[in-house]
Amino acid sequence: MILMEMEMGKMRSLIDILDLSVQEIDSIIETAADIKKDPAKYSEKCRGKKLATLFFEPSTRTRLSFEAAMYELGGNVLGFSEARSSSASKGESMADTATVVSGYADIIAIRHPKEGAPLVASQHAYVPIINAGDGGHNHPTQTLADLFTIKYEKGRFENLTVGLCGDLKFGRTVHSLIAALSRYKGVKFILISPKELRIPSYVKHEILAKADVEYIETENLEQALPELDVLYMTRIQRERFSDPNEYERLKDSYILTADMLNLAKSDLCIMHPLPRVNEISVAVDKDPRACYFKQTLYGKYMRMALILFLLDEKQKNVPTKVINKKFSYDHVCKNPNCITSTEQELPQIFWCANEEQNIYRCVWCESRAK
Ligand code: CP
Repeated sequence: MILMEMEMGKMRSLIDILDLSVQEIDSIIETAADIKKDPAKYSEKCRGKKLATLFFEPSTRTRLSFEAAMYELGGNVLGFSEARSSSASKGESMADTATVVSGYADIIAIRHPKEGAPLVASQHAYVPIINAGDGGHNHPTQTLADLFTIKYEKGRFENLTVGLCGDLKFGRTVHSLIAALSRYKGVKFILISPKELRIPSYVKHEILAKADVEYIETENLEQALPELDVLYMTRIQRERFSDPNEYERLKDSYILTADMLNLAKSDLCIMHPLPRVNEISVAVDKDPRACYFKQTLYGKYMRMALILFLLDEKQKNVPTKVINKKFSYDHVCKNPNCITSTEQELPQIFWCANEEQNIYRCVWCESRAK
């Protein structure tokens, strides 16, 4: 085990929601609210700038809202929407792709099925990298959209009871949202899932317990509903299951219906990162408490504000985050979805998450060393 500093990239990037301080998130929300109020004021802010969208996995909202965001800031967009149409299909590494594209664009948004891929890109690119979703790991710009929705619809983050329902195991948006909201006072979580899809233990021990956040786990949505200020529904994600029978068994675990909402508060804020499959009945769309379509629009304003923030940091030459931790080179990552599983030249580095309990995590995907 060695103590060392590791520079997290060449440029200020957004890989994990916790890369942004509470004050920075407040300031990004303030800019997004101003953009919403007066979009014309921002229509030339990125004139002459280019955003590259490198999407190695399907997306509707994230890719198109990033593209709309850059166009509405007066900039341009280049990129691809599937791995097949890029040279990744010929075996090009994430590091080489990021180095090359940073010569073509001022800022890059990456979605990738392998966990840790955007972090690898940020270590090689000469422009800011935005993680637009890496496997089941993180999705920080969805969290920015979620935070704006909560702030705009509820007026605050403090003292809210937030229900998270569905796939809490693989739901990357859930993990990032818990990490972000745990920094505010009085937030309480009700974690609603089948036992097979419970929140991972690292979220419980290293985020919730560390921040002393109150939470309960339950399988019963109807019982939890009357207590909630925010209900965050999620899809059971077919693409994350290795056993299709297990997916079939769990896919309709929760379906929010209009009738069930009789149990809920009159000012409940119903959210969903979308796409939905069957977990919110379409009859709920007419309910004024349904905020999930507004959430997609708020996501565009937040992505506009984030692009402005990161380009400003780049111009100011703000130093990148340096993590000063204990590292170990004695483990091999066993997570089949880690970027190291396909890019074998990457170093196997683990950081010490808990010295007393001897817990080490892969720096790329954060999986625990076995
Ligand atoms: N919420 C979200 O990430 O949607 P897309 O997969 O369509 O981008």
